[in-house]
Amino acid sequence: MLIFNKLSELRQWRKELALQGKSLAFVPTMGNLHEGHIKLVEEAHNYADVVITSIFVNPMQFGKNEDLDAYPRTFEADCDKLKAANNHAVFYPNAKEVYPNGLDAQTYVEVPDTAHSLCGEATQRPGHFRGVSTVVAKLFNLVQPDVAVFGEKDYQQLRLIKTMVSDLNMPIEIIGVETVREESGLAKSSRNGYLTAAEKSLAPALNQALLLIKQSVLDGIARIDTLKKLATEFLNEAGLKTDYILVRDAHTLAPLTKETTEVVILGAAYLGKARLIDNISFKRETN
Ligand code: PAJ
Repeated sequence: MLIFNKLSELRQWRKELALQGKSLAFVPTMGNLHEGHIKLVEEAHNYADVVITSIFVNPMQFGKNEDLDAYPRTFEADCDKLKAANNHAVFYPNAKEVYPNGLDAQTYVEVPDTAHSLCGEATQRPGHFRGVSTVVAKLFNLVQPDVAVFGEKDYQQLRLIKTMVSDLNMPIEIIGVETVREESGLAKSSRNGYLTAAEKSLAPALNQALLLIKQSVLDGIARIDTLKKLATEFLNEAGLKTDYILVRDAHTLAPLTKETTEVVILGAAYLGKARLIDNISFKRETN
């Protein structure tokens, strides 16, 4: 497996690949890889001759009081897992290589839709999605993939990338992959590593709260406030602090209407040192 630290090495390799007429699939990550990430790599093999994964803990998407320094870095173990998944190359740059002029001088990409319609209401992470779209745009320009693979677990992120690629006419196909979960229903996440054993047994409550809302929506309970209250109480009782619970049209991300046929329920909650996110989407009958 090839490992590139420098942009110039990556570019040279990419040129050679193009000359050989080989297609390239790309899996961007921040490392500390688990089965969710590896599923993306496996999926990527279905779309191209060659698969490259990036490992870069992107400082631009972390808020001031967030866990940038504490974010787990496990490069050796990550490489072992990538090799086992037949990943061909790893792009592993440092922050100086990606942001040579520092974060404040960096040109950025901002996708208006996601930034406003959801996060405005939902999140206390200002600048997070701008950091994500900017780094992914930079990585796309460096890697020049034909296809890029993202997890549905980060639902807003996946939508944001699709919008960016469409708005900026990037010739890249974006593939979404279903969330990989623990047996308990807990979505696999690098941030689960922050949980103590006791917290880990409480964490599946987030997925359960979303399933509770799903059942209520299917049972025809239409009042979103009632549903949110139900889920928030459920989470409180389990020891989680709700950040947001949103019930939206899966296609438009707008609030539900009578015409909504596919619903997405998005949730985020704090547990100990971790902020957990999850979502589920499902079809419903309209009448
Ligand atoms: P990271 O959190 O490392 O996730 C990398 C990719 O793995 C994302 O596409 C994410 O949705 C996917 N993923 C994480 N957990 C998953 C699970 N349980 N099942 C399926 N896929 C899962 O997301 C990021 O990094 C960053 O924001 C990044 C896109 C790399 C930009 O810095």
